[in-house]
Amino acid sequence: MRVTVIGPGAVGLLWAGRLARAGIRVNLLDHRPERAERLSAHGVLLEDQEGERRLSIPVTARAEDLAASDLALVCVKAYHTADAAQTLGRHLAPQGRALTLQNGVGNVEALVEALGPARVLGGITSEGATLLAEGHVRHAGRGQTHLGPAQGPLDDFARQVAAMLEQAGFAAQAVEGCQNLIWTKLVINVGINALTAILGVPNGRLLELASAAALMDRAEAEAEALGETLGISFLHEDMREAVREVARRTAGNISSMLQDVRARRRTEVDFINGAVERKGAELGLACPVNATLTDLVKALEQNY
Ligand code: PAF
Repeated sequence: MRVTVIGPGAVGLLWAGRLARAGIRVNLLDHRPERAERLSAHGVLLEDQEGERRLSIPVTARAEDLAASDLALVCVKAYHTADAAQTLGRHLAPQGRALTLQNGVGNVEALVEALGPARVLGGITSEGATLLAEGHVRHAGRGQTHLGPAQGPLDDFARQVAAMLEQAGFAAQAVEGCQNLIWTKLVINVGINALTAILGVPNGRLLELASAAALMDRAEAEAEALGETLGISFLHEDMREAVREVARRTAGNISSMLQDVRARRRTEVDFINGAVERKGAELGLACPVNATLTDLVKALEQNY
């Protein structure tokens, strides 16, 4: 299988580096030509449990190069997915498919609009990656990856993708359908990301601050009720406890949204708490806690 990883951020470099090290044919697509040139020249520096290794991975800014790929792994920020989807629609070969493991909701939908449901896979991952410098990634924590077709039953292609990720040393599993996965992860991000970004605390601290923990539960409850209205079967029976468990397990982690705020980058709040607020409004379900968290994170961004 030939793979193109789109986006040389922390997660994109982790996938690309591990696939390359396992001997899988992989290249990276970067929309910034100067950076693509530098990364191609210097390679990708991957740090993980096996040590440190510099890998030579072709990095291109030419979307036409997608034509040779069987799989495009979309690793851009959620607010760039629509653009990436349009590029894929124009350049991916007819047999090529796309996989998103990004945070938030709306990524699968954008890819389906450009490629059709039969060519899209979605899922979630709890692998942790930290970008130490341009082209330099550290595997911050081992996790699990689940993926499945955007529509229809589990197929051979999804199984092959999971097998390829396993070959690269990731724990990966193909399952039927991806919305239950994505909504389960969404509820976790809804509970943790905005609050850690607003308060400037690592994930585990939310549990130690009584008022923050109460808000976490209320944000979670709104998203869970919305998912239930949409017919989602969550992967955990007690989603409130599932959110708390992730906060405990990742107690020392700086959430992706707090990392964005610290780096004065745009956050993905529109695709997490903001998505809950919008979907709730569509269905007549008020989500005031998520609406307020969204506005507070946007105020932080406006204050950069
Ligand atoms: O976005 C993140 O930071 C992660 O998805 C999670 C699970 C909240 C852990 O930090």
